[in-house]
Amino acid sequence: MHLTHLSLTNFRNFARLDVDFSQGSHVLVGDNAQGKTSLLEAIYYASTLVSFHADNDRQLINFIASREPLAVGRIVSDFKRGGNSHRLEARIIQESNGSNGSQKVRKEILLDGVKHKLNQVIGRFITVLFIPQMLQIAEGAPEERRRYLNLALSQTEPGYAQILADYHRVLTQRNALLKQLFERAGDEKQLEFWDEKLSYFGARIIHARISAIREIEKLAASIHLELTRSGEVLRLVYQPSYDPMPMADRQYTLPLDVNLDRSGVALEQIETGFREAIIKLRSEEINRGVSTLGPHRDELRFLANGIDLGSYGSRGQVRTLILALKLAEVAWMHQKTGHWPVFLLDEVLAELDMQRRNDLLSHLMACEQAILTTTDLDLFNSNLLEKAKLYRIQNGQILSGKD
Ligand SMILES: Nc1ncnc2c1ncn2[C@@H]1O[C@H](COP(=O)(O)OP(=O)(O)O)[C@@H](O)[C@H]1O
Ligand SMILES: [Mg+2]
Repeated sequence: MHLTHLSLTNFRNFARLDVDFSQGSHVLVGDNAQGKTSLLEAIYYASTLVSFHADNDRQLINFIASREPLAVGRIVSDFKRGGNSHRLEARIIQESNGSNGSQKVRKEILLDGVKHKLNQVIGRFITVLFIPQMLQIAEGAPEERRRYLNLALSQTEPGYAQILADYHRVLTQRNALLKQLFERAGDEKQLEFWDEKLSYFGARIIHARISAIREIEKLAASIHLELTRSGEVLRLVYQPSYDPMPMADRQYTLPLDVNLDRSGVALEQIETGFREAIIKLRSEEINRGVSTLGPHRDELRFLANGIDLGSYGSRGQVRTLILALKLAEVAWMHQKTGHWPVFLLDEVLAELDMQRRNDLLSHLMACEQAILTTTDLDLFNSNLLEKAKLYRIQNGQILSGKD
């Protein structure tokens, strides 16, 4: 799929922007603080309906516009998916909250002019984002890896985003009840209702993650082999907090080099096993006042030739890993949905050595559409620059394009 037009109103430093895109590679070039990242953020928002670096939607509305009692930041993306044209509009609305004078922010999503719930729209317009901070997927907390999985799955697997939201809602309620049972005692039987719901939604998340990790691993390993000139064999090791493999017991952590194939475990089996496991943990969980088992505690590790890259990888190895993962994510989404995601890359070339840069640029040519930003055009090889469309960006405006 590809973006054909983007229209922004009061989004970050864009008071108003209208820009056309076509298939192929696009390079947005400009100095710092001109709006390059914000433009990618807007396109990404149209696919995931969240920002990749704002803590809340309020920050996305243009500063000046947000001083008014009613302010609306708008992102309208026109895109082509399998030959059909669609329009997705996201409105971020800041308005007064009744009589107390405070302001609230809400969003509205329209697909082809019709209002939809957020989770119904995720997956219509798909993107893969690559920014330098993504080294955190390997080096950061487990939460970063869960986010990576969740964002890829939400866009690819119908229903996943809703199930994830339901799981977290149930988790919050269950935690509140556990805390209450610890502080004020009460009937533990009340937990049964939440145990059932937690295992229902949790099992679906675990099941989806098992397949996704295996599929992405296959693609990432072959790209990684190519990037390391056949030097390193990459493996993705899923370490689910509740492990549905009968032999895996949560009393001990399996060594990383044990290659367990969980793909044969049926969804019902995961659901039943997970429910039984949390029932066994009941008194412990009441004492701790929190749900200790489930996909909110899952972990994913990356191994190259048996070495855990998150803990022992060099900077260069981690960069190569993330590059392989991102290229695999693009290929995986295409494989799963039959559509190419739009590939968004924010100043990543500067971080890569010449060889990896050229590897990346050659992969980009295969995508239906890629949008890159840079402060420095010298990082691009002439082959890509000849084919790419160039946009100069300055102070929230696109100055010129070249076809
Ligand atoms: N809500 C906002 N309203 C207006 N300007 C903003 C808002 N949020 C960020 N900015 C400003 O937008 C400019 C562009 O930021 P950014 O897109 O990160 O630039 P670049 O990636 O080109 O370096 C920065 O000067 C930033 O301070
Ligand atoms: Mg930037």
